[in-house]
Amino acid sequence: MVLNILDLGIPSGKVLPPVQGEADSGLVGTWTPQSWRKRPAIAQDIEYQNALAHEEVLDTVASLPPLVSTVKIELARQRFAAAARGEAFILQGGDCAESFQDVRPLIVQQKVQLLHEQSRLISDAMSLPVVTVGRIAGQYAKPRSSPFETLADGSKTYSFRGENINGAHLSERTPDPSRLLQGYFHARATLDLMKSCSSLSTPPSDDAVAPVRDQSFDTDFLQEIGQGAIFTSHEALHLPYESAVTHGHYNTSATFVWIGERTRQLNGPHIEYIRGIRNPIGIKVGPSMHPEELVDLLNTVLGTQSGKKGQAGRVTLITRVGVDRVEKVLPPLIHAVQKAGHLPVWMCDPCHGNTKSTPSGIKTRCVETMAREVIQTFHVHQAHGSFMGGLHLEQTGEFVTECVDAWDNYSEQDLTTNYRSLCDPRLSYIQALTVVQLFLRHVRQLKSKAK
Ligand code: PEP
Ligand code: CO
Repeated sequence: MVLNILDLGIPSGKVLPPVQGEADSGLVGTWTPQSWRKRPAIAQDIEYQNALAHEEVLDTVASLPPLVSTVKIELARQRFAAAARGEAFILQGGDCAESFQDVRPLIVQQKVQLLHEQSRLISDAMSLPVVTVGRIAGQYAKPRSSPFETLADGSKTYSFRGENINGAHLSERTPDPSRLLQGYFHARATLDLMKSCSSLSTPPSDDAVAPVRDQSFDTDFLQEIGQGAIFTSHEALHLPYESAVTHGHYNTSATFVWIGERTRQLNGPHIEYIRGIRNPIGIKVGPSMHPEELVDLLNTVLGTQSGKKGQAGRVTLITRVGVDRVEKVLPPLIHAVQKAGHLPVWMCDPCHGNTKSTPSGIKTRCVETMAREVIQTFHVHQAHGSFMGGLHLEQTGEFVTECVDAWDNYSEQDLTTNYRSLCDPRLSYIQALTVVQLFLRHVRQLKSKAK
C-alpha cells in the first residue's frame, strides 16, 4: 500500500469544510466545538475552586499549536474505514492513565517498541495492514466510579482523576487547572520522543507506507505520517480541554479520541461533542448497552447519512463486555447495527470487563481471560457476517506486575513487586505480547481449517 498525500485531496495546511451530517445531523441542531455546553450536566464533571484560572488556562491551550496535523487525522480516517471494511486491523494500546513522570526516553521507547512488535505479529498472521494507535501523548483524564476516595482513617479526599486534573499523591488531589497546560506540554514531549524512537526502531515489515518523494513536504512530517507511524489517542473526557484544542472540526490533540462507558449518554455533552469532529471517534460499549440504544447513538453521531461515502469506520465501537457475556451480548448488537446500515470498526477491549480485586483489594486482570474474550469476540463477529477489526489493550513496555498470567497461579505478593499503574492494571511487555500471540494462534488455526 503506497500513500499518496495528494490522494487524500487535502491541500496542505488547509482545514476542510464541514461534512454534512457531521456539523449538523439535522436531528440535534447545529454543532460547534462548544455546543456540548448546552447539554445536561456533564457526567464525571470536574469542579475547579478557581473557575477564572480554569478559563484562562483554556484560552492559553486554545492558542497553542496543534499536537496532531489535520492531514494525519484525514489519513487515519481512511485507515479506520479500511478496518471497518475488513481490509486492515487496528491495534490500540497503552496506559490506563499516563503519568507525567513517565515522559522519559526509555519508557516511551519501550511502549513504542511493544506496539511495533505487536503490529508486526498481527500483520503477519492476519495478512492485513495494521493501523497502530497508542493510548499515549494525552491519556491524562480518568472517569472514576466515585469522585471521592475514603482513606484508611475514614476521611475523604478527591479521587485521582488523571494527571490533567490532579495528582495521584494525596497531597495533590485538589483539581488544579494549570495541569491542563502541563498536560499539553507533556503530550508534546511524548510526541517528540515517539518520533525519535520511530526512527530508531524497525518499522513494520510489509505493507508499510512508503514515504512520498515530494520536496514540498518536510522530511520530519513525512516520517511522522509514514513508515512506522503511530497514531495517538485518548479518552475525550475533559470537554473544556477537548473543545479548547478543537480547531474547526478537528480535535488537534490526538488522532483518535473515544468516549467512555460512563459518559456515552445519548443526550449528554460527550456525544454532542464528538459528533462534530472529523477525527475517527470511539465509543465504549459495555454489557448494559441495548441494541436500540446503540443504533440511536450511531444515528446521532453519524447523522442519518450512514450510507454516505466516508462514514465507514468513522465510529469505532470498542466492546468491553467481559468474557462470560460475549456470546449473549454481542450478537444482538451486531445484528442491530447491520440492520441500520452502519459500518463501524468493531474493536475488542478485553480489559475493562474482566477487572477483579484480590482479597486484599489489589485491582488485577488475567492474561488468559483477556485472550479468551478476544478470541470469542473474533469468533462471534465471524459467525454473524461481521469483522472484529481492532484490539484495545491496557499495557506498558515495562516489566510491571499488575496483571496475572492465570487465575490459579499467582500470589498477591508477586503482584505488589512492581505495581506502578496510576489507575487500572496494565499488561507487561511479555504479557501484552502473549495476549496477541494467543489470539493469533487462534486466527492461524481458523485459517488452516478453512484451507
Ligand atoms: C478506560 O479505557 O480506561 C476506561 C475507563 O474504560 P471504560 O470507559 O470502558 O470503563
Ligand atoms: Co482503564
